[in-house]
Amino acid sequence: MRDSRETFVNHAFVTGYPIRHSRSPLIHGYWLKQLGLEGSYRAYEVSPEAFPDFILSLKNGQSGFTGGNVTIPHKELAFALSDRPDELSSELGASNTLWVEDDLVHATNTDGHGFTANLDERAPGWDQCRTAVILGAGGASRAVIQAVRDRGVKTIHVVNRTAARAQELADRFGQAVHAQPMEALPEVMKDAGLFINTTSLGMDGSAVPEIDFTIMKSGSIVTDIVYVPLKTPILEQAEAQGFAIVDGLGMLLHQAVPGFEKWFGKRPAVDATLRQIIIDDMAHHA
Ligand code: ATR
Repeated sequence: MRDSRETFVNHAFVTGYPIRHSRSPLIHGYWLKQLGLEGSYRAYEVSPEAFPDFILSLKNGQSGFTGGNVTIPHKELAFALSDRPDELSSELGASNTLWVEDDLVHATNTDGHGFTANLDERAPGWDQCRTAVILGAGGASRAVIQAVRDRGVKTIHVVNRTAARAQELADRFGQAVHAQPMEALPEVMKDAGLFINTTSLGMDGSAVPEIDFTIMKSGSIVTDIVYVPLKTPILEQAEAQGFAIVDGLGMLLHQAVPGFEKWFGKRPAVDATLRQIIIDDMAHHA
């Protein structure tokens, strides 16, 4: 029971299936220590079958958790089972951040915030572009489309190998979003000031198609939401062609900020030491 603010210790989780790879405990552990807070943030592997009971244990207080993060494959179920999903996660149909208030599970999605905060830090002014190209229409692209639209980018081309998936997202996210087949890539890149890769292209070491970034306006920014490797094959290409690039690690770090603030009561900062901790971890667990 809560006697006073001073004696109440908050506990948070990250759950997924599998969860071994998660770097979230490193991030939140760093902030807890840095801010001198008691409390914990631990990884829990929960299977899809057991996930509804996990949510129930949050609601009835049995788990003892203040809240936590949800990752693959539970984001859609977390949204569906939460009592109070916010507008952002309702439009996405997926939540990555939960917190308990008065025995109700609240849910939001901070991936979009992570994406835009990373660009704000590394490429300020990025949102002045009128047109953006997003490569990929998988689960990971949704929060990015939503966030870029909500920052006021007028025209967003979603280019995908499977055209139907891009069309589904154009229907979901409204007039600013246009579905495009792969062949349209050069044409839509001409007007774009921002290029975002959300696909897994090149992650498995397979060949990545050559992309001619030089048809984009000079001063355009190229970013990737994948951060392993830090400089993805697409970012390598863009940099070699003279474009400013922003890697995806900052998105991971920034998406963690709002959750930490909710559970532990202080807004943490993304700093160079934290970034280095994750880079070192990536080197040790490649
Ligand atoms: P996630 O949820 O992580 O985004 P996903 O739903 O499997 O993962 O989506 C992966 C994205 O990478 C999709 O846009 C996929 O294109 P399709 O919708 O056509 O499958 C894209 N992708 C993966 N491998 C690709 C390849 N070799 N060429 C082009 N696109 C690829």
